[in-house]
Order: sequence, then structure tokens, then C-alpha cells
Amino acid sequence: MAMTPDRRSATETPEHPAPAPLQPAEPCSIVIFGASGDLSRRKLIPALFTLAARQCLARRFAIIGFARTPMTGQSFREWGRKSIQESDGDGKAHGDRGNDFLKGFAYVSGEYDHPEAFEKLKQCLERMDREYNLEGNRLFYLATPPTTYHLVIEQLERSGLAKPASGKAWTRIVVEKPFGRDLASAEALNRSLLAVFDESQVYRIDHYLGKETVQNLVALRFGNGIFEPLWNRNYVDHVQITAAETLGVERRAAFYETAGATRDMIQSHMLQLTSLVAMEPPAKFDATSVRNEKIKVLQSIRPFDGENIQAHLVRGQYGSGAIRDGAPPVPAYRSEPGVKPDSTTETYMAAKILIDNWRWAGVPFYVRTGKRLAKAVTEIAIVFRRAPHLLFSGQSVGANSLLLNIQPDEGISICFQIKRPGQQMDLKSVPMDFSYRHEFGGRELSAYATLLNDAMRGDATLFDRADGVEAAWALVDPILNWFQAHEPSFPNYAAGSWGPAEADQWMERDGRHWRKP
Ligand code: BG6
Repeated sequence: MAMTPDRRSATETPEHPAPAPLQPAEPCSIVIFGASGDLSRRKLIPALFTLAARQCLARRFAIIGFARTPMTGQSFREWGRKSIQESDGDGKAHGDRGNDFLKGFAYVSGEYDHPEAFEKLKQCLERMDREYNLEGNRLFYLATPPTTYHLVIEQLERSGLAKPASGKAWTRIVVEKPFGRDLASAEALNRSLLAVFDESQVYRIDHYLGKETVQNLVALRFGNGIFEPLWNRNYVDHVQITAAETLGVERRAAFYETAGATRDMIQSHMLQLTSLVAMEPPAKFDATSVRNEKIKVLQSIRPFDGENIQAHLVRGQYGSGAIRDGAPPVPAYRSEPGVKPDSTTETYMAAKILIDNWRWAGVPFYVRTGKRLAKAVTEIAIVFRRAPHLLFSGQSVGANSLLLNIQPDEGISICFQIKRPGQQMDLKSVPMDFSYRHEFGGRELSAYATLLNDAMRGDATLFDRADGVEAAWALVDPILNWFQAHEPSFPNYAAGSWGPAEADQWMERDGRHWRKP
């Protein structure tokens, strides 16, 4: 039986006790389609191991890999061990802790459109159900290339695996992003899924929603009395959302060349963050209420039509450059392996989002994301209006801001003015910081661990609904069409910079500037 390892973690100390555990999931089988791939190795298996180590995975579970790559159960276990070792490098995969976790591993190899392969999967699931007493509960995870999603869904239906194994058992399916590549394909995927599964069985994942500070945005807004009264056009000047990476396209050119920053980041992560910042207080913190409020934000965003696109968007692509002073230069996007030498794929996007509703009318949300930028950082800055009257002559008083650092230094800061010591009334902006690491010892769960646990417990609050993904694509589609019709002049920013100069000029025209995180 796959038993969960010892609860106390190596980094737990009396000053930093383990955070309150998540509620454990019910016994179940987790089937990973695309199990031999990158996502499974780098994120899913380590996340499941963390859940097991923190006793948030049920005491009885099985992890069944399904992929085209031929492997035996034993080699899948070894592969799983390597994945855990790579993810934390401290040898946790050795000894009883790792062995216990890996006991419940099984593997089925086959093509995604072969009924016989799904027959084998069914037999394997039934065997694991009996052996580990899993009560017929099943979580399917689509981590394959998105082109195979339809095939897998079809085979799950044909083999009878889409239906719960018994009256009391549950079957759920997690669908990895990208969920479609435009509105039409997202609608088609929703149709395939909903022809076979009920919406309540479908978990469309966006891992940003599992990040600790993203969830804390909701706690900050609705768990405190002091922020929400200021959270509107009367007090907020603008909002900046930055997701900057120093990494380039890595080995993902085959995917990225067909996606670009708009599909990869704006349609999903950036619009999710925008919705959470902008939504009205939901009636309850449950899947229906939260998702209803988020979708209203998407529906209130002013559509990007022709004129708006030119005035409200900046796209970019990195040329070569050094990420830090003295670091060796990295190649331009067009020289990365697998990228076309004349590629017009954007690796940077900045957008000015206008939300036409009572709370946000006239408050721009500036969002930007890019690869090979100067610093790896994701943050949300709520920039408040300046003090209406300046008492202190000759001083330019900065605006107050509230910063949510999503990564890497998770925390929340408020910036305000103080007087420097001395006779003069000399003002300075200072931060008041809350740091996760300082308060909790930096032991927050990975986003995937949080979301896998939620899916196994049947909590869809942090997952997207069919109408939510479609509303996001409806906003992004006109941008993609415009990009196709208008050739950019790339590359237009150096690796290691903060993106195209045009993005700075564009902010300056609005009388604002990008924060330098
Ligand atoms: C993924 C994108 O969804 O998010 C990647 O496909 C991107 O291109 C990644 O690098 C960023 O995630 P994180 O958690 O590292 O900010």
C-alpha cells in the first residue's frame, strides 16, 4: 500500500512550525497522461510527493503514468525517484519516505488514440482500486501536448472511464493550459469535454491561481476592513501587473513559436491576476461565487479593437544581451534552437487594460510580461492617487503603493512617505514589509501541490470555468488577428533589459512610469 511518509519536514523548526496542513484528499488513483514529459517530471510528481510528505494526499493512493514512451512500472518508479531528487536535491527521495511514495506507481504505455491502450489503463485502474482500496475515485490529468486532448477525451468515453466507477466514486479531469489557441478552438475543446464530462468534473488549471500570494490577494482584500474601502477609482490611480522572466524560450520553441507571450501568458495568467484584483467581493468563497465575479471583470474589459490595439499594446522580441552586468551574453530569440530565423513571435507583451464598470472606470491596469528581462519577478502594484494638496513646498511627493510580491520573495509591502530625520521637512518613501519567508520560514506549497490537492478534494474555486476561458480568448482573439496582419520590426529589446523602449514611452505618454522591481 502506498503510505504517506513521515510528516515532519527537514526544514521544520520550533520558530517556523509546519503550516497548518491542507485537508487530506480522499483515496484515489491519479492518472497522468503525458507522464514521461517535462511537466510531469518538473512539477506534478514533485508536487504529489510534497502532498504525500505533508499528509495531504490520502493515505491510500496510486499514481499511474500513461504515455507513448515505453517504460515498465519499475522504470517509471526510478524515473519518479529522479524527478523528486531533481526537484529538491536533498535526498528526500531516498529511504522510506521516497520508497513509500513510489510504491503506488504504475505505468501504461500506448498511443492516445488506441482503444487497446485505454483497455490496459482500465485494467490497471481496476487492479490498483482492488489492491489499494481506492474506492474507485479517479483523477485524470491531461499533461500531453494539447493536440491530443480530444483523442484522450474520446478514448476515456469509449472505454467507460469517464463515468464514475460506482455510485459513490468520483471521476475528475484536470486540463493543463494552453486551453485552446483561440476562441474557436477553446469552444471546441469545451464542447468535447462537456459532451463526456459534467462541468463539475472538469478542472481547467492555471497554476498562477495556486501561488500563495495570489490566494492572499483575496485574503488581503476581503479579510481586512482597511483595504477594500480604498480599492476603487476614488483612491487608485492605476494598477501595474508584471510577470518578468530572465529565462528564454529554453527547449520549448516548438510550442512557443505557435504561442508567443499573448497566448502563453496574457490570455491565462495575466488576465487571471487582473480579474482577482478587480473583482467585486463574492458572496461566498466558493467556486461558483468567485468564478461568477471573475467573469464579470472579463466581460467589463474594453475590447481591443483596431485603434485600441495600436494605442494600448506593445509587443516585443528579445535580441541578444547579458542578463546581468558581466554575465555572458545570451542569444537572440531568433537564434534559439528550433526558432525560425525570421520569427515574428512576441516574447514580450504590455497591455493597457481598461475596465468599464463603476469601480474601475478611468483606472488603467498596465500588465506586462516578457522573457529574458532584467529580473525574474512577478508582482502586482496598486498605485494610489497622490495626496491632493502638497503642504511641503519644493517636494515632489511620491504616490503610495501596495505591492504584492508573488515571486520570488513572496510578501506584501505598503509604501508611504515619512520625514527623514533632521530639521528639514524632507520626505522619503519607505516600505512596510510582510515577508512569507520571515513569518512562515518559506515553506509554502508549490502552486501545483495546492491545486492538485484542491482537485482531489473537489474544490474548483481556483480553477477556470468554460465561460471563463472563453471570455479570456474573446478578448485576446482580436489582438492575435491584428498581430498576424501587421508585421513587427523585431528584435526590439535586448536580453537583460526591461523590454522595448516603446513600452516606457507609452507609459510616459500617460504621465506614468513602470516600476523597476
Ligand atoms: C507557463 C508558461 O504557463 O508559465 C511559461 O507556459 C512560463 O512560458 C511559466 O515560463 C511561468 O510560470 P512561473 O510559475 O515560473 O512564473
